[in-house]
Amino acid sequence: MNLAVFASGRGSNFSAIARAVKNNQIKAKLKVLVCDKPLAPVVKRAQRAGVRVVLVSRKDFASRKDFESAVIQRLREYKIDLILLAGFMLLLSPDFVRRYRNRIMNIHPSLLPAFKGAQAIKDAFVSGADYTGVTVHFIDEQVDHGPVILQQKIKISRRDTLASLEKKIHSLEHKLYPQAIRLFIQGKLKLTRQA
Ligand code: GRF
Repeated sequence: MNLAVFASGRGSNFSAIARAVKNNQIKAKLKVLVCDKPLAPVVKRAQRAGVRVVLVSRKDFASRKDFESAVIQRLREYKIDLILLAGFMLLLSPDFVRRYRNRIMNIHPSLLPAFKGAQAIKDAFVSGADYTGVTVHFIDEQVDHGPVILQQKIKISRRDTLASLEKKIHSLEHKLYPQAIRLFIQGKLKLTRQA
C-alpha cells in the first residue's frame, strides 16, 4: 500500500505518520509529500525523513483542473492508494474527490460537525464549550465533511489556555491519525471502488 501526505504548513502530523511508517506501526510505504508551499516547514521534515517531495504551486497552472491533473499524474506515477490530508490548505474539487472516493482522509482539530474551518481550536476555546476533540474522516465534496473514521473528545478545563489546548489537540492528532491509517490498511473500513 502506497501513501501520499498532502500538507501546506508545519507538518507535525506528517512527522507522526512518517514515524509510524518507520516503526512499522503502519505497514505501508510513505511514497511522497505533496506540498503547495515551497517554504513550509513540512518540506524540511520530509527531506530529513527521506520522503520525496512534490511541490505543486496552484499559481503555476491556469485552472484548478490543470493543477489537479498534474497532481493526479504524480499520484498515478507513484501508484498511490491512500491520500492523507494533514493541514493541506487548498480545497480539492468534487471531480478529484470522486476519483479518490473513500481514499482521501483528513484530520480536523474538533469534533465535527462542530467547529469547521481553519480556526477550529480557537473557535472551540472562545466558545466556552466544555469539550472539543479531533476527527479523522474521509472527505467528500463539502468542506470538513464526510464519513467519520475516528473521533476522540478532549475536555477543555478552566485552567486551559489556548496554547495548552492546542498542545493537547496536537498530541491526540498524532496518535489518532496513524490509528485511522492502520484501520484502512487492515481493511477494517468499508470502501467503495475508484470512480
Ligand atoms: C492540524 O491541526 C490538523 O488537524 C489541521 O491542520 C493542522 C496541521 O498541523 N487540519 P500540522 O501541519 O500537521 O502540524
